[in-house]
Parts: sequence; C-alpha cells; structure tokens
Amino acid sequence: MSYQPKNILVTGGAGFIGSNFVRYLLGAAKDVNVVNLDLLTYAGNPDNLKGMDGEERHTLVQGDICDRALVDRLLREHSIDTVVHFAAESHVDRSITAPGEFVRTNIEGTYCLLEACRQFWQTEQKLDKETLQQTRRFHHISTDEVYGTLELDDPAFTEETPFAPNSPYSASKAASDHLVRAYFHTYGLPVTTTNCSNNYGFYHFPEKLIPLVILNALGQKPLPIYGDGKNVRDWLFVADHASAIHRVIESGRLGETYNVGGWNEKTNLEVVDTICSLLNELKPREDKVSYTEQITFVKDRPGHDRRYAIDATKLERELGWRPAETFETGMRKTIEWYLANQPWLNNVVSGDYRKWVEKQYGA
Ligand code: NAD
Ligand code: DAU
Repeated sequence: MSYQPKNILVTGGAGFIGSNFVRYLLGAAKDVNVVNLDLLTYAGNPDNLKGMDGEERHTLVQGDICDRALVDRLLREHSIDTVVHFAAESHVDRSITAPGEFVRTNIEGTYCLLEACRQFWQTEQKLDKETLQQTRRFHHISTDEVYGTLELDDPAFTEETPFAPNSPYSASKAASDHLVRAYFHTYGLPVTTTNCSNNYGFYHFPEKLIPLVILNALGQKPLPIYGDGKNVRDWLFVADHASAIHRVIESGRLGETYNVGGWNEKTNLEVVDTICSLLNELKPREDKVSYTEQITFVKDRPGHDRRYAIDATKLERELGWRPAETFETGMRKTIEWYLANQPWLNNVVSGDYRKWVEKQYGA
C-alpha cells in the first residue's frame, strides 16, 4: 500500500519547480490540500500559480521557512502530514557573489523545518515511531551538484557517489541533505530525498541558462556562454521532476535518496543551438539571420563544474519511474510556452509582479 499524503506543506511553491509541482499534484491527487509557504523572494512569483487562484485546495502563505513560529503554526492549523521542501536560494552565480543567504535559507531553513516537524509529530502529536513512519513524510528536494564535478569519461553520479560540492550553493544543499539524513537516523523522522539534474520548462526564472537565452534571443541581445561552452549538464523537463517527486513520496523507502535525471547530457553550446534552431523555426528573426549569430562567449564562472550526469537507475528499478519527455519534445514545448506567455516573461523582467505582490500581500 503506497503512502497517500493529505495535508501537504509545500515550501518554495511559488518558484520554478515548486509551482510546477503544485500544479501537477493538484491534478494528479484529488484528495490533497496544499499550503504553499513561500517568502516570494525575487525568484518567487504568484504569477507562476496562475490557474490555481480559485482552487480551494491550495493556499499561498507568504513567509520564511526560517520563521519557526510561523512554521509551527502552519503545521498545527493545517494538520500537516507531509512536507515537500523546495524552498531554497537556487542560483549558483548568486551564491558566488553573496553566499550568506544560501547558508541561511538552505541550511538554517531546512533545520527549522525538520525541528518543527519533529516537535509537532513526535512531541505534540505523540506519534510512536511506527505510526509516525506510516502516516507522515518529509520529502527534501536536492540537486546533483552535491556530488561535485565529472570528467567526460567518468560514469554518471549514483546514490553512492561521495559528496564533493564545489560552489557555496551546492555546499549549502549538501549540508541540508546531511541534516535530513541525520533526522532519519537519529530521530526516526520519515524522510526521503531526491537529487535531481538540471530542470527546464515553464515558469523558469530568466537568470538560468535556458530561459535567459530565450529572453535574450527574442530581445536581440547577446546569448552569453561561459568559458568554452563545453560544460555538460543533464537536462530534465520539469513536469517529469514533479512526477518523480510524487512517486518517491508515495512509494520511496524511508531514509533513502533517489537520483532523478533525464538521460539527456548536453553541452551548453548544444543547448543554446537547440534553442536557436527552434526559435528560427517558430519565430524567425525579421532579418532572417539565425539566432546563433547572437551567441557571445563571456568570462567563465569561477569554479565552474565541468560535467554533471545522473544515473537514475535506482528510481526506475525500485519505483518504475522514467521521464515522459525527451530533450527534443520538452524543449519544443518549452519554447512554444515562452512564445505564448511573453507577458509572464515581460512581467518578471520588468518587476511588475513585485508590485502585484505588494498589493496582494502587503509585503
Ligand atoms: P527557484 O529559485 O525558482 O525557487 C525557489 C523558491 O523558494 C522561490 O519561490 C522563493 O521565493 C522561495 N524561497 C526562497 N527563500 C525562501 C525562504 N527563506 N522561505 C520561503 N521560501 C523561500 O528554485 P527552483 O529552481 O524552483 O528550485 C527549487 C528546489 O529544487 C531547490 O531546493 C533547488 O535546490 C532544487 N533543484 C533545482 C534544480 C533546477 O534545475 N532548478 C535541480 C535540482 C534541484
Ligand atoms: O544541476 C542542478 C542545478 O542546475 C540546480 O541545483 C540549480 O539550482 C540550477 O540553477 C542549475 O544549476 P546550473 O548552474 O547548472 O544552471 P545554470 O542555468 O545557471 O547554468 C547551466 C550551465 O550554463 C552552466 O554550465 C553555466 C552555463 N551558463 C549559465 C548562464 C546563466 C552560461 O554559459 N551562461 C549563462 O548566462
């Protein structure tokens, strides 16, 4: 019998992956209520939740995962049985220029949530270990970047690959993964973790490679490629990540980590070429020149990891999960979505949505 969540606290559910997950979950599971705790930082955007405005099963709460009193109150008031933890500072470049917020949100925030769950489920609700593990879940979303970097001929990361994070972002995520693991071993908290490769898809904030290149291409701006453009990432369509997380929550073994990936290794130049050729087809430049003409090589990212590659065999073998999209089908859907949703992109860029947040939430 698989685990069926009922009252779910999703953290960071107004961000890129979190919002796609909430949309997926409300469609896939009819009997769930979602409380969406999001600080609405620069990366959190209520526009990402479009279409769920009138959805009674979804409540957006603007707040900080480090605010223990708020987290305690939400757990109690909504009888939360399941936490799905996305909230994080997520951009590697920002972690290089300003690591402090990564330590606070990614490490202290995860600690705050774990402690609040322990207190609520074990001390307040007095659940014994067996009941706790049958009726509660804490699912932690993490990244393949905790494993460090690969040479081109190295095998892909498995769940046994030792952690070797190289950026302040990946170090903060590795620390949070360790905390989650420790709460299982020490307190028996019913945790699962997924370590996923690079996501792409709808509502992706245009500081990351794929949406930035789409935005700049359409705006006749340079398409910046760090270094030689030969760094490799393993790309997964975001809805596939959402289905993997759901599968692990329902059927994953407690205390385990599962790698999630799309079996889609591409160099950054290959990714940018794909975007350019799809745009050439779907929205050619007025002068009919290829978008590739806008490619510009720029200074490399400090400590730039050369290659990530995920071996997602465990998730397939144990839980029968495989991605539905190939890179080609997922990228076509993504480009079509951005072309059809230019007001979303323009709002994000112009900062209009911040004004909307202020009006809506008084923040
Ligand atoms: P994102 O930056 O788009 O969204 C992060 C969300 O967290 C935002 O809505 C933001 O407002 C919220 N947030 C930030 N600080 C908060 C705080 N203190 N309290 C409450 N909310 C806060 O990030 P994303 O790309 O959607 O990533 C989500 C999660 O998935 C992260 O944990 C990230 O490490 C992980 N992940 C991302 C990828 C990827 O390719 N984007 C891949 C693997 C894992
Ligand atoms: O691997 C999972 C990780 O993927 C997640 O944990 C992170 O949250 C997510 O941001 C992502 O990290 P990356 O650093 O791989 O993603 P980003 O889109 O920033 O960069 C992808 C690749 O493209 C990387 O090799 C750097 C390069 N790049 C990036 C930008 C923003 C460029 O060449 N030019 C750019 O302008």
